Amino acid sequence: MEIKPIINPFSTAGYHGELYFCDREKETEWLLSNIVNGNSSTIISIRRLGKTGLIHHALGKLPKNYKGIYIDILPTERLNDLFGLLSSSLIQSINENTSFGQKIWNVIKSFRPTVSFDSLSGQPQVSFDLKPSEAENSISSILQLINSQPYPTVIAIDEFQQIASYPEKNSEAWLRGIVQQLNNVVFIFSGSQQHLMSEIFSSPKRPFYRSTQLLKLQKIDRDTYADFIVKQFEINKKSIAKETAAEVLNWCDTHTYYVQLLCNKLFAATHKVAKTEHWKQQANALLMEQEPFFINYRNLLTTAQWRLFKAIASEGIVYHPTASEFIRSHNLSASASVIRALNSLLGYELIYRETTPNGETYYKVYDILFQNWVKVKNH
Ligand SMILES: Nc1ncnc2c1ncn2[C@@H]1O[C@H](COP(=O)(O)OP(=O)(O)OP(=O)(O)O)[C@@H](O)[C@H]1O
Ligand SMILES: [Mg+2]
Repeated sequence: MEIKPIINPFSTAGYHGELYFCDREKETEWLLSNIVNGNSSTIISIRRLGKTGLIHHALGKLPKNYKGIYIDILPTERLNDLFGLLSSSLIQSINENTSFGQKIWNVIKSFRPTVSFDSLSGQPQVSFDLKPSEAENSISSILQLINSQPYPTVIAIDEFQQIASYPEKNSEAWLRGIVQQLNNVVFIFSGSQQHLMSEIFSSPKRPFYRSTQLLKLQKIDRDTYADFIVKQFEINKKSIAKETAAEVLNWCDTHTYYVQLLCNKLFAATHKVAKTEHWKQQANALLMEQEPFFINYRNLLTTAQWRLFKAIASEGIVYHPTASEFIRSHNLSASASVIRALNSLLGYELIYRETTPNGETYYKVYDILFQNWVKVKNH
């Protein structure tokens, strides 16, 4: 008899199919509609909200005749690496024995690859050591080849802002030029460095300016997420009341990764019914686990930065960090020093800045666990 592995229905890494995926219906529809209409898309959001998950979800729902390719270019440092990653992804997804597979290999071979095998997955990988001009030619040839196939292809490039740090100064302009020539390939660009992504796609000075449809991914609707949590427990013969699920969402500020993490732990620790005291135990265990990192951060920050961080964490959301009321009630220094500390915390990605639809700017702590730790410990 086949023994089925016990799967926790709350994934905390990677995409595991639609059974484990909550909502994002409108966003998926939006992506698919862009794709079939030949428009490229850009997805931006704060970290760990679900951009990568959404891309995989949409790629899994492509119309029958479409092919999807996903690459995460965060580890790449130059065009040469981008070509390596793109080629590796192609040889892993396309059968070598087909005529297209043969053509791909021929192009790859012409650029003198080093072939290796991933020690974990055993999948073939290629890397190159090309001059910048050669790297441009290589990427261009492989994209032209993909474009010439009888079916349309979607290429998703995750952590796309990385391209802005390549030493080849004209990478963006050059890639934009190629993208424009391809009529049978649609792109999805995504990235978590919001200011860099916005610069690339919304600044009139940049080559990709307004060249794609833009999605600012928001948090999943609370009610929908609560229903999803209840359902995931039920499917697996356990239960949680919707009000309890709502408490979990509240503690996690509906930030996808933290919701998934806490629900994963809660599900694992639940025998039959998950109650308030159970999620609180798990939440506390998560805070304890992370405590050494939080203490380390606290020690690295200046007194002014730590005070401001604590103030933002305890408020949850801050619209006017230099308002005299905020400064007074949290015992902060003069507004000039608050601004300096604010910029440092933004730079360290301990807090983030967002704008409401009516143009109001606010600040929040990035790591929900860190925020809750500060609140509980009140250090
Ligand atoms: N709609 C969803 N339903 C359930 N889990 C999700 C959903 N979207 C994302 N997740 C989970 O949340 C976590 C974070 O998602 P993901 O990695 O997609 O975020 P991201 O925005 O790409 O983050 P980063 O900016 O760090 O790259 C992952 O563990 C993923 O499995
Ligand atoms: Mg991601």
